[in-house]
Amino acid sequence: MSMSHSRHATVSRHLRRCPRLLVWFAALALPALAAAWPVTGWTQASNTSNDTGSNTELVEQGAYIFRAGGCYECHTDTKNKGAPLAGGRALPTPYGTFYSPNITPDRETGIGSWTEAQFITAMRHGLAPDGMPYYPAFPYTSFTKITDADLRALWAYLMAQPPVKQANKPHDLGFPYNLRMAMWGWRLLFFEPGVYQADAAQSAAWNRGAYLVTALGHCGECHTPRNFLGAMKADMRFAGSADNAEGERVPNITPHAKAGIGGWSEKDIADYLGSGMTPDGDFAGGLMGDVIEYSTKYLTQEDRMAMAAYLKSAPAIDYTPPRKQQK
Ligand code: HEC
Ligand code: HEC
Repeated sequence: MSMSHSRHATVSRHLRRCPRLLVWFAALALPALAAAWPVTGWTQASNTSNDTGSNTELVEQGAYIFRAGGCYECHTDTKNKGAPLAGGRALPTPYGTFYSPNITPDRETGIGSWTEAQFITAMRHGLAPDGMPYYPAFPYTSFTKITDADLRALWAYLMAQPPVKQANKPHDLGFPYNLRMAMWGWRLLFFEPGVYQADAAQSAAWNRGAYLVTALGHCGECHTPRNFLGAMKADMRFAGSADNAEGERVPNITPHAKAGIGGWSEKDIADYLGSGMTPDGDFAGGLMGDVIEYSTKYLTQEDRMAMAAYLKSAPAIDYTPPRKQQK
């Protein structure tokens, strides 16, 4: 995977060394930056109409992408028996509680009045139709890697779902995180948009696995520890975290023999993603149970094997996320 060494990266490095400067930058300088941002180019790129619903093949493809992307878990308030994709699911984080929005095709309360281009901009660039940035609680940091073809199929699938009228619940965030504007600074530091780039030195299966794990499955969003501003630590990829997933401890899934899952075969990993059963006969619980229940169990074993092969090839990291004493 290539890192781009742009001006953007220089600014990032500089600010990363001066966290206090960063907070001021985020809170004060950004509204000005945002005002100057040329949003219109992205948000009004096209006026494609929402007539994709009749294309059954595309909708079927989209159903698979939807599963692989784990959209259901976050956008359905299963705990309170909420309607599928109508949002309202609480996502507790150290910055406050986010409530997922309604992504059904309802025109008033969902995304039914959006164009396909607006949807692609949201997923690829993390920008709303009004040009405002999304919070990374919406893992567009991973979804940016999804291909255009898959995004179009996903859009067709979403537009073929039943519309549900349910107004979005506002997020409950502390200062300065309640300032959506501050996300411009966050993005400058931590967000690099761009479709997954295949690694020519690796096999097609490995690349498929890498795409499923890093773009759609967004596995690192929970399995990679975050810095104090909530960005994934690149050098700790898949090493686990004490509280990354809504306060849940997330295990190390690098191939490290002791700290990670080095003892699992590729088939063990694929089977776990299919059934939830570990090689020891335990079953996945908590949020991973949901990932398997609503997402990975619907994938083909071939795709799960590809994901396993990719995970086995990641750098082994000797890190055991601490267990919390008491809440
Ligand atoms: C980890 C939880 C999570 C997952 C997984 C997730 N989302 Fe979201 N999504 C959110 C949150 C939270 C927001 C609101 C972000 C904000 O307000 O800035 C959001 C916002 C959105 C929006 C913008 C809606 C609007 O009204 O502006 C769209 C579209 C969307 N998600 C689609 C998807 C799709 C498609 C998938 C699956 C590929 C997906 N999401 C997976 C949490 C999630
Ligand atoms: C929403 C957060 C979240 C996401 C997303 C997530 N995981 Fe997990 N994962 C967890 C948690 C929490 C556990 C611990 C489950 C348990 O204790 O039973 C776990 C456990 C695992 C384990 C078992 C490790 C062990 O030592 O028992 C594997 C393998 C795994 N995840 C792989 C993945 C893959 C591959 C993906 C992407 C498709 C993924 N996870 C996405 C939260 C997540």
